Amino acid sequence: MTTVNVALIGYAFMGKAHSNAYRQVSRFFRPRVDPRMRVICGRTKASVVAAARAYGWEEAATDWRSVVARKDVDIVDISTPGDSHAEIAIAAARAGKVVFCEKPLANSVREADRMLAAVQKARVIHMLCHNYRRAPAVMLAKQLIGDGRLGEIRHYRGTYLQDWIVDPQFPLVWRLDRARAGSGALGDLAAHTIDLARFLVGEIVEVAGHLETFIKQRPLPDNRQKKGRVTVDDAATALVRFANGAIGTIEATRMAPGRKNFNRFEINGSRGSLAFDLERMNELEVYFEAEPAATRGFRRILVTEASHPYVKAWWPPGHIIGYEHTFTHTVFDLLEAIADDRLPEPNFVDGVRNQLVLDAIERAAKQRRWVAVRRFRT
Ligand SMILES: NC(=O)c1ccc[n+]([C@@H]2O[C@H](COP(=O)([O-])OP(=O)(O)OC[C@H]3O[C@@H](n4cnc5c(N)ncnc54)[C@H](O)[C@@H]3O)[C@@H](O)[C@H]2O)c1
Repeated sequence: MTTVNVALIGYAFMGKAHSNAYRQVSRFFRPRVDPRMRVICGRTKASVVAAARAYGWEEAATDWRSVVARKDVDIVDISTPGDSHAEIAIAAARAGKVVFCEKPLANSVREADRMLAAVQKARVIHMLCHNYRRAPAVMLAKQLIGDGRLGEIRHYRGTYLQDWIVDPQFPLVWRLDRARAGSGALGDLAAHTIDLARFLVGEIVEVAGHLETFIKQRPLPDNRQKKGRVTVDDAATALVRFANGAIGTIEATRMAPGRKNFNRFEINGSRGSLAFDLERMNELEVYFEAEPAATRGFRRILVTEASHPYVKAWWPPGHIIGYEHTFTHTVFDLLEAIADDRLPEPNFVDGVRNQLVLDAIERAAKQRRWVAVRRFRT
């Protein structure tokens, strides 16, 4: 079996999730190329060394530029905040590496365009980590829609709600700084909701949007006596119109007490509906008009049968899977794409399209009117 050497940049939240995926993928799936966890990179030596040991990487490094240039690296995995995605991805593409990048692709459309141009010019394989596509229940939703079970799609209702910044004393971390994160709940959470909308329903062509920052100043992380300005949205809402005639609503916030990772969507078509909630990610709610009226109603499919997407590799029916499995599925699909020498999805094209929608929502919010999503230029 061919081995591909992986370099992972970033060792914290996503660093841990991606490390787990590389470690597990060949134990449960049978990818035709096997990932070797060659080197993990971060800025703080002691922490990255500890991460290498804990997650199972062969080496630890502190300079991503030298890591990306290494001959013994095939895949560069970018799990850093958005302000470094473009620079690392472009350097990795120029060095001929497969580029696997966390969402949102970039902090601006301009950066996203440059990243796509770089991977296309270098003709390297690229992928964007919108891992929620790979929850088995979401893939089942995709199959049901593709099979026409919902008929013509009319509504997409996507919400992504969290509550970790409700406390005004929560510090000004990088996710609250526009220069580092690009935007707030919009790019962090709505980017996922938009990706699921595009995946399941189709392209978004027009939006109206609203962004709100409720708590405008917060304590600085390293000096809690002093406060700094929050430069991103705490919450984002949008009305959207799809190219196929469907309409939708998108809501993302980190200000919804009690909602921890409430990534939920409901889709209504002419022949049925379906609903998904990440906090109950092994389930898909469905309703089909064609069923007998007396017993018709929303019902819950436990998406743990061997016939369901990805499930056969794991456990017997009813033995549920969790958050980390979505990353293992994503990495498996990346490895299979490498084996076939083809582009996996979502990739940087999806990243640019997603960024165009985020950008349109920001412009619509600022201008307080409907805005057309810029047409995608290849
Ligand atoms: N797919 C998902 O569900 C999901 C979930 C959370 C975060 N994310 C995305 O993942 C990315 C990282 O988020 P996170 O939550 O892991 O952040 P984090 O703050 O937990 O970790 C960021 C890591 O990047 C490292 N880093 C920062 N700048 C660096 C640089 N210049 N060179 C080398 N390393 C650097 C930090 O040391 C840290 O290890 C973001 O783009 C975020 O939007 C995706």
